[in-house]
Amino acid sequence: MASLKIDNLHVARDAKEIVKGVSLEVKKGEVHALMGPNGSGKSTFANALAGHPSYVATSGTIALDGRDLTAAAPHERAKAGLFLSMQSTPEIPGVTLSSFLRTAFNAVKEQPLSVLEFHALLQARMEDLKIDPAFARRHLNAGFSGGEKKRAEVLQLSVLDPAYAVLDETDSGLDVDALKIVTDGLARLRGPNIGILVISHNPKLLEALRPDRVHVMKDGKIVAEGGNELAERIGKEGYEAIAN
Ligand SMILES: Nc1ncnc2c1ncn2[C@@H]1O[C@H](COP(=O)(O)OP(=O)(O)OP(=O)(O)O)[C@@H](O)[C@H]1O
Ligand SMILES: [Mg+2]
Repeated sequence: MASLKIDNLHVARDAKEIVKGVSLEVKKGEVHALMGPNGSGKSTFANALAGHPSYVATSGTIALDGRDLTAAAPHERAKAGLFLSMQSTPEIPGVTLSSFLRTAFNAVKEQPLSVLEFHALLQARMEDLKIDPAFARRHLNAGFSGGEKKRAEVLQLSVLDPAYAVLDETDSGLDVDALKIVTDGLARLRGPNIGILVISHNPKLLEALRPDRVHVMKDGKIVAEGGNELAERIGKEGYEAIAN
């Protein structure tokens, strides 16, 4: 039962069906990759998991450790232990990354932490991830680079320590440095207490990540599944070679 389980999910956006019956289960301790050509519905799927109001789950279920969250509000999903990567870091004038992370932490945890307690937690996580402490004092409106945004995302993931994480890396245009931040960060976070679903069609990211299971989406449906060798094959032969 310890899994993020999606069963026959259909998702519509502006009354148009985009995701057409996707089933997928990420058990705790596993890393899965969701791949698929541009426009196949991966981000739509991720947004529906997050409970984004513009993405309507028209049928099917989303369950976390056996608890049905299909109709839950986004903050309830987060409280239940689901994390979704920020597509872009919010720009909030006068707010530091550190205070943003503390607000995010206290919003999803039963036990809020004081400024001092949170500071200690943040320091520890930054040390784990080899992030310069000065980074957390940066202001959110100060214009993070692509790599810094990724660093902030990995740090947020590590601080929130969710039971399940869904990371949509597709549109982020990762350069070599950002890629290394994500892959190193995820390698450190990977473990028996977290299930991770990474959405990507970057063969380099998947090569470094070596997911336990790979799912390929085309036109809103899962058309192929397999182990890491499937990602390698897509890297070499492209999506055309899969399920055609
Ligand atoms: N508001 C909308 N109304 C109708 N169709 C939409 C809307 N928004 C997105 N779509 C369509 O939904 C499909 C899936 O888009 P989605 O962003 O989920 O794809 P994706 O697999 O994440 O692609 P990429 O790899 O480029 O990130 C696309 O064909 C897109 O044009
Ligand atoms: Mg996308």
